[in-house]
Amino acid sequence: MMDSPATGQHTATLTLDGKSLELPVLSGTMGPDVIDIRKLYSELGVFTFDPGYTATGSCASTITFIDGDKGELYYRGYPIDQLAERSHYLEVCYLLLYGELPNAAQMEDFENRVTRHTMLHEQMQYFYRGFRRDAHPMAIVCGVVGAMSAFYHDSTDINDPWQREVASIRMIAKLPTICAWAFKYSIGQPFIYPRNDLDYASNFLHMCFAVPSEPYDVDPILARAMDRIFTLHADHEQNASTSTVRLAGSSQANPFACIAAGVACLWGPAHGGANQAALEMLREIGTPDRIPEFIARAKDRNDPFRLMGFGHRVYKSYDPRAKVMQETAREVLDLLGIDNNPTLQVARELERIALEDEYFIDHQLYPNVDFYSGIILEAIGFPTSMFTPIFALARTVGWIAQWKEMLEDPATRIGRPRQLYVGAKARDYVEVENR
Ligand code: SDX
Repeated sequence: MMDSPATGQHTATLTLDGKSLELPVLSGTMGPDVIDIRKLYSELGVFTFDPGYTATGSCASTITFIDGDKGELYYRGYPIDQLAERSHYLEVCYLLLYGELPNAAQMEDFENRVTRHTMLHEQMQYFYRGFRRDAHPMAIVCGVVGAMSAFYHDSTDINDPWQREVASIRMIAKLPTICAWAFKYSIGQPFIYPRNDLDYASNFLHMCFAVPSEPYDVDPILARAMDRIFTLHADHEQNASTSTVRLAGSSQANPFACIAAGVACLWGPAHGGANQAALEMLREIGTPDRIPEFIARAKDRNDPFRLMGFGHRVYKSYDPRAKVMQETAREVLDLLGIDNNPTLQVARELERIALEDEYFIDHQLYPNVDFYSGIILEAIGFPTSMFTPIFALARTVGWIAQWKEMLEDPATRIGRPRQLYVGAKARDYVEVENR
């Protein structure tokens, strides 16, 4: 159970039309204080106005913290670079879900529980057959995750802690299978079943790249890179898809419906879809000599083009995940003997030029998590259409941790924002013959 946010010793005074209201200022453990405006409407009859939620805290959370100015990211207080280097994804899942790093016995039990839930109900295969082969894998993943509520009725009661736990383990365990099968379906290959003798990342790669006609050994270098990518994408405060999951969960929708809503929101190119868009942009640029043309377009206010994988609402310095991702891309390409990868060359030159450009400096635009991830995923063998499903797979644990925290928070109420109405004033209906 989460402690209520610290109520600061100080207040903010808001004066409107001669009436003053003292508003409590709440302090957390890291980051800015917040002004508690929950009495604003009842006391002063006005709403706040913050389209895009640029300065609005939607909840108190103990899970993840981002310091956008310093470019720092913490999962339960642990820095992301330490976790990426020294931990592994299932341990990070345990940390995000339960708040502490597991001891050896806890880790073994958690790993066993996840491993034994990786298979899908056999009938779920028929969902795949209903999609066109050229359907985007995100469309399939979104549909199949939502369909889990049609198969796992014994873990849909959100008021039962045990059912919440079972649904959480099922989704963490089954997303790799769901995503791998979406990939297999799109390339016309048979589904490969999960294997309990493989670790989480190796199992996913095996389901994606093995075929029934011959043995397939997962390259440990690629498995380690895949696992690190999962860790880097696991959670990220109240981003658009996590806020979607929380809002869906606040209506008491079942867990599978809430996570399917998160998958749908993540798909957008402004959010998780940027990893696919960034690699496609790097391929379109093609060679370093074309970079100035694209930089000019990104700066042209009349051109909707943006540098994909660049910029962030919170990071006003380098995204720490992008740093680890760039290092991993270099390692993987070196270990695979891929010299002079043209996409990585363009990416690094584009970053160098952009970070020296006045526009990007003034706008505090830096590479984000999506800028380099596609280079690694391409080197592992994935088509760009699988980049965002992999992001969704990795972020499922973050969505679930935030969803559980919301349900366990006594302050939680259904999310229902208000608005500034600027439409027609009240008027009477006019019959069609009089219009
Ligand atoms: C993710 O929130 C999260 O935590 C998300 C995420 C997570 O882990 O969950 O980190 C994952 O979604 C990363 C972001 C992936 N998206 C992209 O890479 C798409 C390209 N970037 C953007 O479209 C943009 O930067 C956003 C969406 C990421 C952030 O948008 P904001 O904060 O609303 O900023 P904005 O669109 O208002 O831009 C502010 C200014 C504008 O210029 P002005 O009109 O003020 O002169 O910066 C410019 C924008 O034109 N700008 C860019 C730019 N991003 C912002 N200009 C060129 N290229 C860009 N990429």
